[in-house]
Amino acid sequence: MDIIAPASVVAPSVESLAAAVERRLTAAMAGAAPQLRRSDRADFQANGVLALAKGRGLNPAALASEIAAALPADGLVSDCRASGPGFLNITVGDRAVLANVAARAADPRLGVGRVAAPGVTVVDYSSPNIAKEMHIGHLRSTAIGDALVRVLAFLGEGVVRRNHVGDWGTGFGMLIQDLVERPEPEHGQGEGGEDGIAEIAVLSDRYQRARARFDADPAFAERARLRVVALQAGDQETVAAWQRLVAVSTEHFQQVYAELGVLLEAADAVGESHYNPMLPRICAELEESGLAEESNGALCVFPEDRPEGTAPLMVRKGDGGYGYAATDLAAIRDRVGGLAARRLLYLVDARQGLHFRMVFDTARRAGWLPDTVEARHLPFGTILGADGRPFRTRAGDTVRLQDVMDEATARAREIVASKNPDLPEQELARRARQVGIGALKYADLSNNRVKDYVFDLDRMVSLNGDTATYLQYAHARMRSVLRKAGAEPGAAAPAPALDLPLAPAERTLALLLDEFGAAVAAVADTCEPHRLCAYLYALASAFATFWEECPVLKAEDAGVRANRLLLCSLSARTLELGMGLLGIEAPDQL
Ligand code: ARG
Repeated sequence: MDIIAPASVVAPSVESLAAAVERRLTAAMAGAAPQLRRSDRADFQANGVLALAKGRGLNPAALASEIAAALPADGLVSDCRASGPGFLNITVGDRAVLANVAARAADPRLGVGRVAAPGVTVVDYSSPNIAKEMHIGHLRSTAIGDALVRVLAFLGEGVVRRNHVGDWGTGFGMLIQDLVERPEPEHGQGEGGEDGIAEIAVLSDRYQRARARFDADPAFAERARLRVVALQAGDQETVAAWQRLVAVSTEHFQQVYAELGVLLEAADAVGESHYNPMLPRICAELEESGLAEESNGALCVFPEDRPEGTAPLMVRKGDGGYGYAATDLAAIRDRVGGLAARRLLYLVDARQGLHFRMVFDTARRAGWLPDTVEARHLPFGTILGADGRPFRTRAGDTVRLQDVMDEATARAREIVASKNPDLPEQELARRARQVGIGALKYADLSNNRVKDYVFDLDRMVSLNGDTATYLQYAHARMRSVLRKAGAEPGAAAPAPALDLPLAPAERTLALLLDEFGAAVAAVADTCEPHRLCAYLYALASAFATFWEECPVLKAEDAGVRANRLLLCSLSARTLELGMGLLGIEAPDQL
């Protein structure tokens, strides 16, 4: 039983049955706000009656009848009676349930409203590092960030996507120096070699080698350091080499994003280098205001609630270089001052929790992050291997994101091909990607954001259980019924026969469809996409029961058939829209 929270952030265009009942109860209970829940005894259960009864010197049953009598006789509440010591069991009339389904079906947004007072939310997500291949660790930030971006934008919030790529720092000094000293033109130039090794893979490799050289050879290390200075000073050759690294990496990132179906565009990549020109002022102001002080040659902030024994926030290093923290401070200032954000969200590994706490605290004290602006680090758990340790390849290396996408797609291809042996290659490849990528993203999104989860491809693509494949299959089945009924895609839903009674499975499905808006709003409120996943899974499961118990095409009565087709149609659209908000495709056929 879930508490049905009135969607605090949205003004729904179709009032949910729960909200309508609650509004009436509040009036009948003279303003005492009842708490409404779904219940298996009736449609809803309200508490709060006991306290009210005590206050009025009545017994709960008497009060319940009084409340029931005070409710308007408009058919919304068909039954209201006391249960146990202080609950009300409330049943909604079939006609009201059907009318609600029809009203949602008549609305392109399925009755989901918009944020009452929209503002700008900046979502910082994905944020890989230049000259390195994206790995499995980027899946969570990318998938969750993408879902939040879609949900918030759908609700009418102004969303700014920020891919805070790591494109600056001492690492590039060593890589560029190594590339300059050992150009090896047969690799790393042109369109990925004949051998199919992508340029980014070559760069990743070179990066490792440069680092090893840096550690082993002090003379090289010194030249690499000078290279950083040259980069910062805008030396032409160095800047050109850096730009090429950025270009190759961006191409790789965009290719992954396109295959993964996330909204990030090249223009959203506003990397660390972007904030470079702002850093001297950031440091100067921190120093002037007394927030930062010299410590062993570095410029540091010592936040007030810093846990014992942890390092302070270093904004400028001893060698004069600026740190990761200074960049994040400049980014906050830019997002608040320049983009007029009211909310800053960061989808970053839980290990950076302390970093963000100190950065937010410093930005608040410096006046760059006013109290009216919310800043939230949204950490997430780790993806684990079957052994319960962070997921790695057999050789112990980090797992490339591309490899995982390829494997998921290959597995999905087997499933799709087994169901449709005669599918043309192009269509097979398309559906395999939709199913495979959907499975990968859903497995990530459906787990509680802050918890670790075990990476298990077999489970992810399973047709049974809480998977994208199961949702996609349910959706395809709904579409198939609608096709067989002759409904044109995009045609208006059949008019309901409002006078007919509803079967239990029809009611359950309809009441769930009515909760869609609340599920979407809950994601916006909590920044937890798994809530929408759980909702969609419940919906697909309710549909499965409906499908078993309520024949649609074989229904004898034309009115019953119309009502069931309407339920199929709204279920299909709700699943498609809901999956779409998670960035998961819902093909019409599997
Ligand atoms: N590139 C960083 C990393 O790989 C993540 C950046 C997250 N975003 C931020 N604003 N700090 O750890």
